[in-house]
Amino acid sequence: MASTQSLKKASLEMLPSPLVDSSRRRIRKLRVSLLDACNFRCFYCMPVNVKFMPAAKWLRPDEIESICQNLVQFGIEQVRLTGGEPTFRRDFRDIVTRLSKLPVTKLGLTTNGFLLAKHLPFLKDTRCQHINISLDSLNEERFHKITRTSVFKQVRSSILQAQELGFNVKLNVVLMKGVNDDELLDFVAFSSEHGIAVRFLELMKIGQACKWQTARFMDAGTLVARLQESFSLAPELAENDSTSFNFKLANGARIGFIASESRPFCGSCSRWRLSADGFLRACLMAEKGVNLRGVLKDDYLPLLQQVLHMKPRARLPDIQQDMYQIGG
Ligand code: 5AD
Ligand code: SF4
Repeated sequence: MASTQSLKKASLEMLPSPLVDSSRRRIRKLRVSLLDACNFRCFYCMPVNVKFMPAAKWLRPDEIESICQNLVQFGIEQVRLTGGEPTFRRDFRDIVTRLSKLPVTKLGLTTNGFLLAKHLPFLKDTRCQHINISLDSLNEERFHKITRTSVFKQVRSSILQAQELGFNVKLNVVLMKGVNDDELLDFVAFSSEHGIAVRFLELMKIGQACKWQTARFMDAGTLVARLQESFSLAPELAENDSTSFNFKLANGARIGFIASESRPFCGSCSRWRLSADGFLRACLMAEKGVNLRGVLKDDYLPLLQQVLHMKPRARLPDIQQDMYQIGG
């Protein structure tokens, strides 16, 4: 009689990828939050006196490696490191080195850019070549107001260095009414001048931002219309599970929009998220998840099936938990 183990193995082998849910969404991207702590205090993301998870709870580098390795065997193709701020972990390089061994098609990093410059020569020799940097203002004073830090110059310079070193760099900009929406064309000029893709994120109803999101919300449609007053926008092709829609402008700027509020992409979502303490979550808006810490690979399948069922079919209206706790 076949052992339970070989039955589990056989059932896994019969399925090309077990990570497909009842809405035919195939999970192939994983966001791995390395910690919830951050060296910024962006006003829409966290309070000044925030309390982070104790570092003792963070998955160790070997645990992150083994969980990711297992998930890759179940069908994950791309991994992105997020936070809080991933470069804020002292063992950041160890983690990247370990994940660089995985057979993924893409290894990426989402960072606020403050500590990035010193890691760039190291990163250049790893498989982590896709760097998304959050920058909400090109104006130093305003950057300070938004992030409550005064390191604009370091961030700007790390962005330019990363681009010069040949990384695939994208800027993430959360445009908010009356805060920084007057910088739309400045970011277009920045993209055109430096050849860096810029993506505008709609402000989501998450944690801190819930209370005033409506007042500050800028929808992507309005921004596209504003751009059309000055430029003709050529749409760019994107993968069908892409979160952004993108345009190329005649001046060379590459501009994208992540319209998670006005045009939710839940129907084609291919992402799961791993929290810093080992919980696998089906969705940014899902507070619950399953704990993968210490789980043996042979016991993964039922847990992953549980997570597949946790993915909402359509966009949930809001989430009380802040973005830094979930991993952006
Ligand atoms: N809405 C949209 N984007 C957000 N981010 C953090 N909080 C929000 C929110 N409420 C962004 C960060 C970063 C990315 C990881 O998520 O600015 O660019
Ligand atoms: Fe840190 Fe990103 Fe939150 Fe800003 S938005 S405080 S950079 S985690």
